[in-house]
Amino acid sequence: MTVGFSGAVADYYAKFRRGYPSEVFDDLQGAFQLSEADVVLDVGCGTGQLALPFASRVRAVVGLDPEPDMLRLAREAADGQGIRNATWILGADTDVPALGMLMGERSLALTVIGQALHWMRHDELFRDVSPLLREGGGIAVISNGTPLWQQESDWSRALRGCLEGWFGTKLEASCGTSSRDRLRYTRALESAGFVDVRETVVEYSDELDFDQLFGGICSAIPVDQLPGPDDRAVFAERIRQALPADEPFTEHVRVSTLVGRVRGPVS
Ligand SMILES: C[S@@+](CC[C@H](N)C(=O)[O-])C[C@H]1O[C@@H](n2cnc3c(N)ncnc32)[C@H](O)[C@@H]1O
Repeated sequence: MTVGFSGAVADYYAKFRRGYPSEVFDDLQGAFQLSEADVVLDVGCGTGQLALPFASRVRAVVGLDPEPDMLRLAREAADGQGIRNATWILGADTDVPALGMLMGERSLALTVIGQALHWMRHDELFRDVSPLLREGGGIAVISNGTPLWQQESDWSRALRGCLEGWFGTKLEASCGTSSRDRLRYTRALESAGFVDVRETVVEYSDELDFDQLFGGICSAIPVDQLPGPDDRAVFAERIRQALPADEPFTEHVRVSTLVGRVRGPVS
């Protein structure tokens, strides 16, 4: 059932995947009037990049993910931050209807999906989530930058060439981040009955040293393709040799949040 975010990949994810800018949480809190009465569901929560920062803004957060190692690390991070209102559930997007039976209709203020929708059957998920949302609530589909090897920069192009050579395949997947993906998700939200569908974007630049870049790469490789511990230094060296010599590597990060509001009661 899982898609490769286990073992060392989960460790790299927890350590090296960046979180989301605070503006994203502020905007969502404002848009959906989140309060201490509310519950937020994070589908594909991974190691908690969205669920954890929401915890202080609402009554409770629920993180749902099919990968036990990701959930374990999310729970550890929550414990480390003293977060007591997070529940971690092993399951996939297809388990949302069952979760809804447990929690009840209109029990959620917001459902978020961060950098994970491309693993899911999004049409079904949007339809399944809708009856669980309270009046004025909604859904947010968030992407957190372009894959490191798909960016418009010399180092990213060099990285892509190196990874394609190592894995012997073209790397073309945009992982839900391209404008075409965002348009497809917009149409799907509208088809599922969400209204006021709109995108907000936060952009900033970040500088990565080699270890951060390498950790980010390893966090995105399915665990069965990640070079084993004995080969990983060779893999790192191959990448280092392919990249321009001048660290740090500047990354332009574009965070896109697509929101849709659940339709209010018909009067
Ligand atoms: C790239 S990570 C995103 C983690 C986190 N949401 C973030 O924003 O960084 C993708 C996550 O989606 C999970 N996932 C994969 N297939 C899924 C599915 N069908 N339903 C729910 N989660 C899924 C993976 O286990 C992984 O933890």
